[in-house]
Amino acid sequence: MTSQTNLTINPQRLWDDLMFTAQFGGTPKGGIKRLTVSDEDKRVRDWFKAECEKLGCSVQVDEVGNMFATRPGKRQDLLPIAMGSHLDTQPTGGKFDGVLGVLGALEALRTMVQMDYETNAPIMIVNWTNEEGSRFSPAMLCSGVYAGVFTPEFAYSREDRAGLKLGDELVRIGYKGEHKAGAIKFGSMFELHIEQGPILEAEEKMIGVVTGVQGMRWYEVTVTGQESHTGATPMGLRKNALLASARMIDAIDHVGITHLPGVASVGLIENRPNSRNVVPGEVFFTVDLRHPDEKILDRMEAAMREALPKIAADTKVTFEEKCIWKSPAVKFASELIECVRMGTSQAGYKSRDMASGAGHDAAYIARVAPTTMIFVPCLGGISHNESESTTLEECGAGAQVLLNAVLAHDAHFA
Ligand code: GLV
Ligand code: MN
Ligand code: MN
Repeated sequence: MTSQTNLTINPQRLWDDLMFTAQFGGTPKGGIKRLTVSDEDKRVRDWFKAECEKLGCSVQVDEVGNMFATRPGKRQDLLPIAMGSHLDTQPTGGKFDGVLGVLGALEALRTMVQMDYETNAPIMIVNWTNEEGSRFSPAMLCSGVYAGVFTPEFAYSREDRAGLKLGDELVRIGYKGEHKAGAIKFGSMFELHIEQGPILEAEEKMIGVVTGVQGMRWYEVTVTGQESHTGATPMGLRKNALLASARMIDAIDHVGITHLPGVASVGLIENRPNSRNVVPGEVFFTVDLRHPDEKILDRMEAAMREALPKIAADTKVTFEEKCIWKSPAVKFASELIECVRMGTSQAGYKSRDMASGAGHDAAYIARVAPTTMIFVPCLGGISHNESESTTLEECGAGAQVLLNAVLAHDAHFA
């Protein structure tokens, strides 16, 4: 039997997995386009399942496609300690967002298997379906179903911009499993992830000990004006939905600027009919508001709701706005945070506490099980970008701290 301090992950092996799976949806600019429940997602899921089975794990899939790979422990009476994140990416995503958390977990588990190390509790790796929310909104959809925030039916009904439903797509790729969402239990979850912001790099720290996730709200806005001829419609008589939207987007940006460290963003816009000599008649856009304090998030929402009607009146358009998703601010479990601290000092890395600006599956899982996260740096803090970059050493450091933290937690069950 190996003692836990001898367990050292293999950073090169982890790197090779990251680079190998980056081919599934790899883009010419070196990123990944692996939208959830697409053919590329099926390919990486099949690979992940096969790798877990090679390590002696049983792999189960629930009714919304979440994948659970389990290695038994010494004790049958304990729930597994889970490590989880997501294998789906943004349309112009990088190689590390989410993927590091799943493949880092795979490397941690592989190290245990290779060293013949038996944990007290079973160990589980989870791949959550549709963390990104870019193909089917909202984000963190199927960890949300697992946590009881959404029903499976709600998830199945979500449509992409081409009108395809998540439920039909899950059947198509063969990942609509038999297990009820939430029925495959675990006792705790650790999620390794890149920071997706610039703080660790700027402070030359290797590990972010994540204490929680800020609150997030998503909205959809449809602005209706009137299509008309650009040459023949005088400026004063137009109902230009795109002009109104441009002013609204500026006002939304101002909501962020006036509620720092809050952030306010419009990331998706569709202009109709999108013809160079038609005054735009209808525009659809999305809004993403975030702040660590729910009360200030309320104020941000109120500020946006004050600004938009004035702009609509000034520009002679009408609009509909609806909040489609709220993910409240989350605080992670102190006992697990303590394990991450122990795991970090055991590995000898510099660290700092931080809250997450990005949303993560861990935010929903924290509602049903003790949960926490580990961050590693990414170059320039750039993420949701094909140029996203984290080094072999940084990926390895994260996986090592993940392994150490899981084993520190497991030691409680001896
Ligand atoms: C998920 O990636 C989010 O933070 O939007
Ligand atoms: Mn992610
Ligand atoms: Mn992401």
